Amino acid sequence: MIFDTHAHYGDDRFNDDRHELLMSMKENGIGNIVEVGAGIASTNDAVTLSEKYDFIYAAVGIHPSETADIKESDMEWLKSLSTKEKVIAIGEIGLDYHYDEPDKQVQKKWFKSQLELARDVGLPVIIHSRDAAEDTLNIMKDYNAEKIGGVIHCFSYSWEIARIYLDMGFYLGIGGVITFQNSKKLIEVAKNTPLDRIVLETDAPYLAPVPYRGKRNSSLYLKYVVENIAQIKGISEQEVVDITEINAKKLYRIE
Ligand code: NI
Repeated sequence: MIFDTHAHYGDDRFNDDRHELLMSMKENGIGNIVEVGAGIASTNDAVTLSEKYDFIYAAVGIHPSETADIKESDMEWLKSLSTKEKVIAIGEIGLDYHYDEPDKQVQKKWFKSQLELARDVGLPVIIHSRDAAEDTLNIMKDYNAEKIGGVIHCFSYSWEIARIYLDMGFYLGIGGVITFQNSKKLIEVAKNTPLDRIVLETDAPYLAPVPYRGKRNSSLYLKYVVENIAQIKGISEQEVVDITEINAKKLYRIE
């Protein structure tokens, strides 16, 4: 079944139909979902959803854009959550230089803290990196991220950079962007990346694939991403679903 390695169902845009939507996943071929924390509130949501639904796992972490008011005590709190059975990763963490705020030094500080946390608690990381390729890589090398492991979520850089992450043992998360007309760079990355290192993700409610681009995304639309990857790789859609599911379970160390 399809494994959605990255979603945000705690988002307000699911308030009207969250339960019905989640209950419809199985009959539509969606097996597991990882609900990813991006701040304090969404991390709480992730843990709550993972406790309510048996097919949902949680990742806990602070997104770079949410680091402005973070304190050391928040790291302790993340650490305490990380011991819960269904918390399977630290994320999403990283650097986002698309906007000027928060200050780069602040983002780096909490990125490093959360890499250390992941190393301490023995969980893989979910990396968010936007317009910050060089700094992200340098920090990850400094912290021996190849020993931590994880996924580069919504991979948006060149094949040259992808290759470095693959050499470090990381998986690449591919979602709706692969269906966009201007996604030449990502198509090249998908073509060159071995299928056993690709995982599927939505980033729902964001980044819906064509033909729903701009609408609210959900795991139900991953079939369009599967279609695209199958075409790029010249293999069957079932093979894409099966292999990426195995990859996701390896990535998150789920039995
Ligand atoms: Ni996300």
